[in-house]
Amino acid sequence: MFAHGNLLFSRMQSNRRPIGIFDSGIGGLTVAHAIRQLLPYERLIYFGDTAHLPYGDKSEAAIQAYSIRIADFLLQQGCKVLVIACNSASSAAYDLLKEYVRTDARIINVIDPMVEWVSARYSHQRVGLIGTKRTVQSGIYKRKLLELNPTVSLHSLATPLLAPMIEEGFHHNKISHDLIEEYLSRPDLADVAALILACTHYPLIKKEIAAFYQGRAAVLDSSELVARAVNGYLQEKQIAHAPEEPVHRFYVSDYTEGFELATRLFFGEQIHLQLQKL
Ligand code: DGL
Repeated sequence: MFAHGNLLFSRMQSNRRPIGIFDSGIGGLTVAHAIRQLLPYERLIYFGDTAHLPYGDKSEAAIQAYSIRIADFLLQQGCKVLVIACNSASSAAYDLLKEYVRTDARIINVIDPMVEWVSARYSHQRVGLIGTKRTVQSGIYKRKLLELNPTVSLHSLATPLLAPMIEEGFHHNKISHDLIEEYLSRPDLADVAALILACTHYPLIKKEIAAFYQGRAAVLDSSELVARAVNGYLQEKQIAHAPEEPVHRFYVSDYTEGFELATRLFFGEQIHLQLQKL
C-alpha cells in the first residue's frame, strides 16, 4: 500500500514535468508544433542552438558536445522526455545522449519513428531521402532500415541548400521551385515510391515537393510520427499532463529578431524567444 502510494506520487510529479525539445535552430519548431497539436496540455521547453547552426555541416564530435550541453540544460528544467527535433543531431548524438541521460528522461529522436513507418509500408520498394550532409553521410537511416526491413531500397541525397533557403523565407516562389526541381530530378531519387524529408525544416516545403511528384510518390515528414511516439511513451508510463493550460518556454543560444520573426513560419504563430547561453 505504501509502495503503491509512492508510485502514485512519483507519477503525479512526472505528469507535471515538461517535455524538452531541441534543434540546431528554429526548424525543430515544426516538431514542437506537432507535439502541441497532439498533446495540448503538455508544457514544452524548446531550445534552438542558433549560436551553432547549421548542424548539417558540423562534425559528429561537435554536434555531440553541443547536444550534451543542451541535454544538461533541459534536464535541469526537469524534463521527463527529451525530443531531438533535428535529424543531424539524432544521427550524431542519439546513442550518446541515451547513455548519458539514462533513466532521468526518455530520449526520442526523429529517425526511429520514420524508419518504423517506412519499414512497415514499403517492402520491396525504392524509397528516397533528402537531408543535410551530416544526416546523409551518417548512413543511419540505411542501417536502421536494414535491421528492420532489408527489402526496402533506400536512396539518399544531401540537399544542403534547402535549409538556408527556407530560413531566408524562400519558399513557394520561383527560387524554391527551381531548386526543389533540380534536386528531386537527380538520378539518385528516380522512381521512388516515397520520399523521406529527413530534416525538420522541410515540412515547410512539403506541398512544393508533393507538387513536384504529382501523386507519383508519397512525401513523408516525421513531425506527426514523433508526436505520436511521445504520446505513446506518456500513455505507457501514465505520465501525461492533466488538463491545464500550459506555459511554454522557447530558448535560443543566440538571439536575433530574424529568428523570432521566423518562428511564425515554423510554429504557426510568432513566439517570444529568450536568450540562454550555455
Ligand atoms: N533541422 C536540422 C535537421 O533536421 C537541419 C538544419 C541544420 O543543418 O542545422 O537536420
